[in-house]
Amino acid sequence: LISQVNVNSSADLIKSLNAKKVSLFALERIPRITRAQNMDILSSQANLAGYHAVIDAASEFNRVLPMFMTAAGKINPANVLVVGAGVAGLQAIATAKRLGSIVYATDVRAASKEQVESLGGKFVMVEDKETQDAETSGGYAKEMSAEYQKKQEALLAETLKKIDIVICTAQIPGRKAPLIIKKYMLDNMNAGSVIVDLAVETGGNCEFSQVGKIINKNGVKIVGHANVPGRVANNASSLFSKNISNFLALMNFESKKSLYDKNDEIIKATLVCTNGKILIK
Ligand code: NAI
Repeated sequence: LISQVNVNSSADLIKSLNAKKVSLFALERIPRITRAQNMDILSSQANLAGYHAVIDAASEFNRVLPMFMTAAGKINPANVLVVGAGVAGLQAIATAKRLGSIVYATDVRAASKEQVESLGGKFVMVEDKETQDAETSGGYAKEMSAEYQKKQEALLAETLKKIDIVICTAQIPGRKAPLIIKKYMLDNMNAGSVIVDLAVETGGNCEFSQVGKIINKNGVKIVGHANVPGRVANNASSLFSKNISNFLALMNFESKKSLYDKNDEIIKATLVCTNGKILIK
């Protein structure tokens, strides 16, 4: 069985498949190495989610995003803040920029600064010793200390005063998403602002986000759509199936001995159970 499994929250499913001696491959565990890029379902789906989060925000926002100079007057461009500049976040920055907004972005990984700036975003970040070491060898973020979170909170609370749209994408693999936008910070935002929380299914980056709902808190809309890649289902399915067919290329269907190479780095990372044995911790 080759699928997205969400290993950390699927212990019972894994146990029952293992009891039936199913060989189970978890696609979300594909390592982030060059050879596996075309199998990476997290990237292919996050990219679409980042794009669509901005489209969702624009449709909930009761103003335009670009600057308009008209005979009837000037309209200022919208200020967009993207929280988390990974795959979804970078696509959100690019999309918001293409729609003419002024884009700010924040992350805990120092490496993301250059990527944000190369897309025309303004990087907002608490830079200290901890951020030099905030990235795992797999390229993901680590959970930050309480002290860092306090400093980040103060900076974002101040930044939010000028922000119209927030796109939340911050995640930590295998853990609850970091809570970044708290109630008092929402009080700093203008009525009519919109927050789209792509982390809603793992707990949310915003205190009031609810899965599948649009909440209104003092005029600020908090959008918590579930399965955002599914909102562009045609593209999501086509990229997902391409990821799977690239993964299948690792299998040797001709071989009478073994379907796959047990020592292959991608197989080792994704094989959850086989022959009645659970292989992951
Ligand atoms: P993700 O979905 O786990 O997290 C999204 C973003 O949230 C990350 O940039 C993370 O640093 C950030 N974040 C976590 N906690 C935060 C906090 N408290 N405040 C602000 N931001 C926070 O990560 P994603 O998007 O899947 O990828 C992360 C990295 O992996 C990036 O460096 C990306 O370029 C790299 N990558 C590498 C690939 C490869 O094949 N070499 C493929 C895809 C991504």
